[in-house]
Amino acid sequence: MSAGATVGDWLGKGEKYLDDRGVPEARASAEFLMAEMFGVSRPAALLQSGRALTVKEQHQFWDWIKWRGKRLPVAYILGHQPFLGIKIEVTRDSLVPRPETEELVIECERLLKKTPTPKVLEIGTGTGCIAIALAQLLPTATIFATDLSKAALDLAQKNAIAQHVGNRIRFVREDLFSDRPGLRGWADLLVSNPPYIPTKELDDLEPEVQREPRMALDGGKDGLDAIRAIAAMAPKMLKPGGVLAMEIHSKQGPAVTKLFAHLGFRDISIKKDAQGLDRFAIGFLPA
Ligand SMILES: C[S@@+](CC[C@H](N)C(=O)[O-])C[C@H]1O[C@@H](n2cnc3c(N)ncnc32)[C@H](O)[C@@H]1O
Repeated sequence: MSAGATVGDWLGKGEKYLDDRGVPEARASAEFLMAEMFGVSRPAALLQSGRALTVKEQHQFWDWIKWRGKRLPVAYILGHQPFLGIKIEVTRDSLVPRPETEELVIECERLLKKTPTPKVLEIGTGTGCIAIALAQLLPTATIFATDLSKAALDLAQKNAIAQHVGNRIRFVREDLFSDRPGLRGWADLLVSNPPYIPTKELDDLEPEVQREPRMALDGGKDGLDAIRAIAAMAPKMLKPGGVLAMEIHSKQGPAVTKLFAHLGFRDISIKKDAQGLDRFAIGFLPA
């Protein structure tokens, strides 16, 4: 590429590079990365198509394009991901927050709207996106969030401080397969987006997803290992009348309904996500 190559030239080169490597939506990806580099929207970046990139910009853009060509998720390249309007820092130690999980948070806010000072326990917090968004949406809530990954917890804590809710969330390293007697009968809501992909499906996932931490995805043989453990501990952690809300695999609705019922939950519902797939399991303890 010549020294005076323009934004438009680099976009064309980036698109071809990504296309040759089978990256979906190659043109959109190139434009998105260019726009992010400029700190503007995609249409605004395109308005600059005729100007030459500086040498620094050329290196930055091409560096990102090469990472994208290796199927690194865009959020890992940029180091952040929007979540309900919050800029969440992400690293390769954490799952990239998903739009479905935004829907889980909205559902939790609805469930707790009438609780004056809600107590929330989140299991498997990752970047902290659920706990942080709930802390912002529910200003009187107290939140306890756990994860087994020390790196994820450090990141979650950093994100919470950046969003000015660090003093409202207690992050604790803990294995979800362990018991939590310390919080017996404490929570109004136990929320979790646990690892729920059946192990045998992991190798068939998109290359981008395979770059995410396996412990954030792998739900064991039938995908239900973590769900079973969390649901089993929930009756001990929740207050009477408390609610358990979990994100699940689209095929797990019937099994999770049965599990919740077996554990004594009432008013069990499986809610669909914006794609129309079963995605959220909700159940209440008897009051
Ligand atoms: C699907 S990710 C969810 C992350 C984040 N809450 C979100 O919704 O984007 C599941 C999280 O559970 C954590 N995890 C996996 N196994 C765990 C275990 N045995 N104990 C505690 N946390 C675990 C992972 O480190 C990961 O952060």
